[in-house]
Amino acid sequence: MKGIILAGGRATRLRPLTKVITKQLLPVYNKPMIYYPIETLIGAGIKEILIIVAPEHAGNFMNMLGSGRDFDAKFSYEIQDEPRGLADAFIVGENFIGKDNVTLVLGDNIFDHDFTEHIKSFKKGAAVFAKEVHDPERFGVVEFDKNGKALSIEEKPAKPKSNYAVVGIYSYDNKVIEYAKSLKPSARGEIEITDLNNVYLKKGELQVNIVDGIWEDAGTFDSLLRAGNIMAEKAKTNVPRHSGLSRIKKK
Ligand code: TTP
Repeated sequence: MKGIILAGGRATRLRPLTKVITKQLLPVYNKPMIYYPIETLIGAGIKEILIIVAPEHAGNFMNMLGSGRDFDAKFSYEIQDEPRGLADAFIVGENFIGKDNVTLVLGDNIFDHDFTEHIKSFKKGAAVFAKEVHDPERFGVVEFDKNGKALSIEEKPAKPKSNYAVVGIYSYDNKVIEYAKSLKPSARGEIEITDLNNVYLKKGELQVNIVDGIWEDAGTFDSLLRAGNIMAEKAKTNVPRHSGLSRIKKK
């Protein structure tokens, strides 16, 4: 299993914070935001990580993160020329993925959940995670039947069919590259990860798990502040984030 962190995008909702600085290098309490998705992947045992960045910020990411040696991991970088959508990660990352399976984490998503077992047991198809939220219309929303089986996923629906949002960590088998290439851009001009997940859902190959730990999508002022406060609280009470983190060397 290889890992990708998608850290490009426009970050329009955080302007003017992101006018000069990229969102994923903004502080979340005592670390740059991107440390959290990096730790999520490394904590789950994934050491080969591709970081996809926007051209104007590539140098800053390389200065901040380097080869990955400080994290006991190996980082590669690719540039996404235009923010063409989340599913574009698998087209930009095609060479890096090679013939392997891949887990994508969004560069602004902060988890406190141990994904080790999930990653170890992943074999084929696709596996995504959902969490109950109070504002599902901001996200991809999963509809479940009585037995907890996923029936549909809708991107930012005006009338959500449940309160379960799809969170920003997704595992796929190697077919994801071919499926991503087959997607047509949505009305907002992006190739959507929800459409990709629906390809797997229609084939009966999508597994939807529930995340019970913390999840914040730190892309708005409020969620960025919340994420910082949560991490500050954890640091002060000395509660370690999930167990895999002790393996990461501090810079
Ligand atoms: P979003 O928060 O959906 O988009 P954004 O970061 O451009 O922000 P805004 O909506 O405020 O303009 O993106 C989630 C993550 O994925 C974030 O880390 C940026 C990254 N991303 C890319 O790298 N490429 C893309 O094409 C898109 C859409 C997002």
